[in-house]
Amino acid sequence: MKITVIGAGYVGLVTAACLAEVGHEVLCAKKSTRNLDLLRQGISPIYEPGLSEMLQENLKKEQISFTNDIESAIKFSEVIFICVGTPTGENGNADLTQVMDVTSSIAEHMDSYKLIIEKSTVPVNTHLKIKELVEGRTGIEFDVASNPEFLAEGTSVHNFMNPNRIVVGVDSEKARKIFEEIYQPFTSQGYPLLFTNIPSAEIIKYASNAFLALKISYINLISDLCEMTGANIDDVSRGVGLDQRIGEKFLNAGLGYGGSCLPKDVNALIHTYKELDLDINLLEETMKINDQRREIFLEQIEKTLPDIKGRTITIWGLAFKPNTDDIRAAPAVDIVGRLNETGAVLKLYDPQAEENFSRIHPENSNLKYYKHRYDALKDSELLLIITDWDEFKDSNYDQVKELMASPVIIDGRNILDKELMEEKEFKYISMGR
Ligand code: UGA
Repeated sequence: MKITVIGAGYVGLVTAACLAEVGHEVLCAKKSTRNLDLLRQGISPIYEPGLSEMLQENLKKEQISFTNDIESAIKFSEVIFICVGTPTGENGNADLTQVMDVTSSIAEHMDSYKLIIEKSTVPVNTHLKIKELVEGRTGIEFDVASNPEFLAEGTSVHNFMNPNRIVVGVDSEKARKIFEEIYQPFTSQGYPLLFTNIPSAEIIKYASNAFLALKISYINLISDLCEMTGANIDDVSRGVGLDQRIGEKFLNAGLGYGGSCLPKDVNALIHTYKELDLDINLLEETMKINDQRREIFLEQIEKTLPDIKGRTITIWGLAFKPNTDDIRAAPAVDIVGRLNETGAVLKLYDPQAEENFSRIHPENSNLKYYKHRYDALKDSELLLIITDWDEFKDSNYDQVKELMASPVIIDGRNILDKELMEEKEFKYISMGR
């Protein structure tokens, strides 16, 4: 089937590549020419495991192509996935400017039936706004549908190809049939395709992300109790998570959630509740607990290294989570910013996120980036672990100890074995253990 994907960010690129991979003929359109040459060579401008390889293969097979000509992209197929950003607006709302811009272009250029699909995360009943805009501009038949993405950065390709569920909100039989065809390569392998009405599909996305945020804040709250009482949050998480009704995932305590999705979607959901005059304390509290994690971590640093000015601190991990170069709303952004103000000497390392991070925190006399994690340890009096990259778990801590001026670690992600680190005579501080 011919498919148009508008937007070539994380969601757009992964959606386009994976739909091509399962045999559709995909045209991925973006507004600007930026990175277009790279994309046409199959080089993903974002770091996402497996994505460049998938792009290259499908470019070779001519299953996917890229354009910045939106008009021809709209005319290319009857199925259009909108995959543009919906960042946080001024009041915490989801800013729909890009979605409505694409909708305007569709209304302007469509010359036959279109199925317009919200893939971007949009608040409940956004489909009504899309419908109203298109209906106001053209008499040509169209449908709007919601097909939220559940892609987690770092594992997006895997998530798309092996979905827990595919959720589709439709209000016409024609749209439903088209979706059955689009996702046939998945349903034929037994992956569940859940049809709902459109507002339900729009809400499923927010309800899922907010629940994940809630789960993380909840375990962080319990972690504070562990800290005060001699309990160990790892054991508590495990003991709680083994209950299959609760589940083991998303019970890792530490610095809390960051990224472009959870914070943004919790905010937007709060905004929707407020607009409807509904009570939303639960999610406001979720956000507050999450913000406090960074403060608790900074207090711990102050306690550990009281005269911080001029002292050398190594920071391992800048991305908001491992296997990505994304630093949006990453705890490291705030923590490095605050430490830099204190006059500490900061040595930073991340396997992927240096380029993005250095745009926000460029090098200065007290802040340097390192290409290898061990090089960042020289003369250091404190090692902070902010992102749970595997290579930090797998490091040689005898070597780490030798390189540091004093062997002190604050582990913001609880990735190291506490007893082992104490055996190696590190002063080792983690969260809730
Ligand atoms: C999230 C959801 O997991 C995806 O299902 C969703 O599709 C995506 O948002 C989206 O809306 O596009 P993502 O933001 O990529 O995906 O990352 P997550 O894996 O959810 O991690 C979010 C944050 O939570 C990270 O900072 C991570 O370090 C933190 N986290 C995660 C914890 O602090 N503890 C945990 O136990 C798990």
